Amino acid sequence: MNHSLRLLLLLLCLQLAADEVIGITRGDFPSDFVFGAGTSSYQYEGGVAEDGRTPSIWDTFVHEGRTRDKSTGDVASDGYHKYKEDAKLMTDVGIEAYRFSISWSRILPNGRGAVNPKGLIYYKNFINEIVKRGIRLHVNLHHLDLPQILQDEYGGWLSPNIVDDFKEYADICFKEFGDQVSHWTTIVEPNVYALGGYDSGIFAPARCSYPFGRTNCTAGNSTTEPYIAVHNMLLAHAKVVNLYRTKYQDNQNGQIGMNFYSFWVYPTSNSSDDIEAAQRVFDFQFGWVLNPVVFGDYPKIMKKIAGSKLPNFTSSQSNLLRGSYDFIGLNHYSSAFVSDNSDILKESLRDFTSDMAARLGTSSNSSASTQFDPSHVVLDPIGLQKMLEYLKQNYGDPPLYVEENGYCFGANISTAVNDTARVDALSDYIKATLEAIRSGVNAKGYFAWSFIDVFEYLNGYKSSCGLYHVDFADELRPRTPKLSARWYSNFLKSDSKAVGIIERSDLQHMFRLSQ
Ligand SMILES: *[C@@H]1O[C@H](CO)[C@@H](O)[C@H](O)[C@H]1NC(C)=O
Ligand SMILES: *[C@@H]1O[C@H](CO)[C@@H](O)[C@H](O)[C@H]1NC(C)=O
Ligand SMILES: *[C@@H]1O[C@H](CO)[C@@H](O)[C@H](O)[C@H]1NC(C)=O
Ligand SMILES: *[C@@H]1O[C@H](CO)[C@@H](O)[C@H](O)[C@H]1NC(C)=O
Ligand SMILES: *[C@@H]1O[C@H](CO)[C@@H](O)[C@H](O)[C@H]1NC(C)=O
Ligand SMILES: *[C@@H]1O[C@H](CO)[C@@H](O)[C@H](O)[C@H]1NC(C)=O
Ligand SMILES: *[C@@H]1O[C@H](CO)[C@@H](O)[C@H](O)[C@H]1NC(C)=O
Repeated sequence: MNHSLRLLLLLLCLQLAADEVIGITRGDFPSDFVFGAGTSSYQYEGGVAEDGRTPSIWDTFVHEGRTRDKSTGDVASDGYHKYKEDAKLMTDVGIEAYRFSISWSRILPNGRGAVNPKGLIYYKNFINEIVKRGIRLHVNLHHLDLPQILQDEYGGWLSPNIVDDFKEYADICFKEFGDQVSHWTTIVEPNVYALGGYDSGIFAPARCSYPFGRTNCTAGNSTTEPYIAVHNMLLAHAKVVNLYRTKYQDNQNGQIGMNFYSFWVYPTSNSSDDIEAAQRVFDFQFGWVLNPVVFGDYPKIMKKIAGSKLPNFTSSQSNLLRGSYDFIGLNHYSSAFVSDNSDILKESLRDFTSDMAARLGTSSNSSASTQFDPSHVVLDPIGLQKMLEYLKQNYGDPPLYVEENGYCFGANISTAVNDTARVDALSDYIKATLEAIRSGVNAKGYFAWSFIDVFEYLNGYKSSCGLYHVDFADELRPRTPKLSARWYSNFLKSDSKAVGIIERSDLQHMFRLSQ
């Protein structure tokens, strides 16, 4: 029997087996729910010095040798040249939406002022390739890659000057691309951006102060700067949402929202101290962004503990912030265990993480750390369900998008493409999302991170998350579908009668046949 005939027969068998397989299908989700996958500009594009783009703070960071594997995003997945091929792969998988970000310094090489026409052309070409395939666009205006020139000029997010510059940049993006974009997200993960960039220093712009940094920062202030950076991000977000709503939304019919990095938090014991600590972690890590955007002000516990380190909103700023979202996007990979660490509040010198007064660990018995480390991954699909339900109950039942979820690991030859662990993780997290919908959560979409392997902000190329493998050692950066791409495709192309999540043994079989 030839190759494709065998594959066809296998697929037929899978169809016939549908009723016997316990699983979920695309058809179990509401028809307006959207499934996609994503990348981001610095992590995907490469072409860092081409056609007028200037460096972002991440270009600076990686060239100081600050990535764990000393790698850079100079070429990354070479999306700047290979976007047409990738748009075709999107059709192959059958994703319904693609999430990506725009490089601010490709559009505005000086941070503001003169627009770079070649930057516009790149995104217009890419957008056209995707839209002509019937795939919707979820676009992030800013995903951690601030133009270095604005960092140098006035300290980037530490200065209120950033607010008007971000608004000017957003205005150009709405004007040039907005007709094609269904969903805009203003700023990706303000919480991780500020903790990594200004408290521990493990993210650009690598600012921190003794004794709090986890890297050699040349400047910074871990006690105050995380608060200031997020404050300016929130003000910039609110202005941009207001701009979109007043100038573009009626004609462009898109939606706009905020994103935050999330993980579910379990108290390590049922003592009231640990339960309060878990709530405090929730308020410091997530309420920090969510409360201003939903209610117009920071959580009470943050004001109490951080005191004068936490900037105040004026009443007009608060009014602009309150309700500044059509949806809320969360990036979610794991859960954490939390125990009380209130004694630390006796110290007078405290960074943001000490103010949280809790220890975070990856299991109820692990040696917990007070430092936030988003690379400590504990797969826990129930945690996503709990997070979605918590947001519904405590933040006014907002429309929610799981904007990033996946499983990243260092892959060797045998696991890189045969990524069964990723298939299991994605299917379990998608099931958890469905459970949340069934319990009444207004979840509207799910995006796998990442569509293809990219430069990862924490681990460079040592860990990958893609549905497609990219061979970073080959200058042509060839793409190969992983088992997870085939699995996701099968799930997405299934209807209510067909098999969505299929048995692992069948998948293995299908994978061997199609190699
Ligand atoms: C910080 O600098 C010191 C001295 O140059 C070096 O030994 C150490 O490895 C550096 N630490 C990090 C995290 O880069
Ligand atoms: C951080 O800023 C605060 C408030 O301005 C100041 O009291 C403190 O000394 C600064 N810390 C460092 C390390 O510069
Ligand atoms: C806390 O109590 C709940 C309900 O009784 C129980 O399910 C849970 O396992 C307890 N947690 C711990 C860490 O003991
Ligand atoms: C914010 O306002 C409160 C109450 O009016 C005040 O106690 C606090 O010092 C103010 N914080 C700053 C940073 O101005
Ligand atoms: C922590 O718990 C896990 C499972 O609950 C167990 O496998 C592990 O040995 C424990 N570790 C320690 C240090 O007790
Ligand atoms: C590849 O990685 C898997 C999972 O981490 C591991 O079980 C396996 O032993 C590794 N194989 C090789 C050849 O290193
Ligand atoms: C893929 O990996 C699984 C174990 O994770 C193994 O059982 C299976 O044989 C592998 N398939 C191929 C085609 O290598």
